[in-house]
Amino acid sequence: MRLFLDTANVEEIREAAALGVISGITTNPSLAAKERIGDLESYKAAILTITKLIDGPISVEVTALDTAGMVHQAEDIATWHPNVVVKLPSTVDGFKAMAVMRKRHIPVNQTLCFSVNQAILGAELGVKYVSPFIGRFDDEGQDGMEVVKDIVEVYRTQKVRTQVLAASIRHPLHVVQAAKVGADVATLPFKILMQMTQHSLTDVGMAKFTQDWKNATGGRR
Ligand code: G3P
Repeated sequence: MRLFLDTANVEEIREAAALGVISGITTNPSLAAKERIGDLESYKAAILTITKLIDGPISVEVTALDTAGMVHQAEDIATWHPNVVVKLPSTVDGFKAMAVMRKRHIPVNQTLCFSVNQAILGAELGVKYVSPFIGRFDDEGQDGMEVVKDIVEVYRTQKVRTQVLAASIRHPLHVVQAAKVGADVATLPFKILMQMTQHSLTDVGMAKFTQDWKNATGGRR
């Protein structure tokens, strides 16, 4: 399973890039707004900065609600950089826009996916990634990982090439579970990437190695 970072924050991306484990970025209008990005021009400027930090797919979401508006924005977004993937929502207008993207050979990340049926439609439309939102299911008292598991199973059975991108990851256990059920990618908030590096026994072990070495050497290097 590959790891993407789910953020529009350039400093987080810079720091994560140094870890060497992040192979793509996902953004959305909420994440952009959090970075005070308020129009497509500044969204574009941020994305172009990000392309210099991560050489991999970078998802950029449309904000229009109707098919014509989505297609218009998507065609522009697709020209920003060869690594850009256009994020389109799992709505009727979004599916119609995906159909246009397929004809234009523009890669799509199908976002806001909350059912296997929506994932089947996306696959039929040749989307590159489908993004089930795990945490938002969990918020509603439903097990989001079961939907990821079912989508993976259906795609494998049907030999679908669309990749399952586990999104709305809220804690490190989601990452483990997404890997176990066979998601192709998990997109993580920066905080969760950092949590993945941590274990209290590693800290205890490091402290003991350091102290023992200090005792043995009498503090000499
Ligand atoms: O990639 C989609 C993801 O950012 C949604 O996460 O935490 O807003 O549900 P969340």
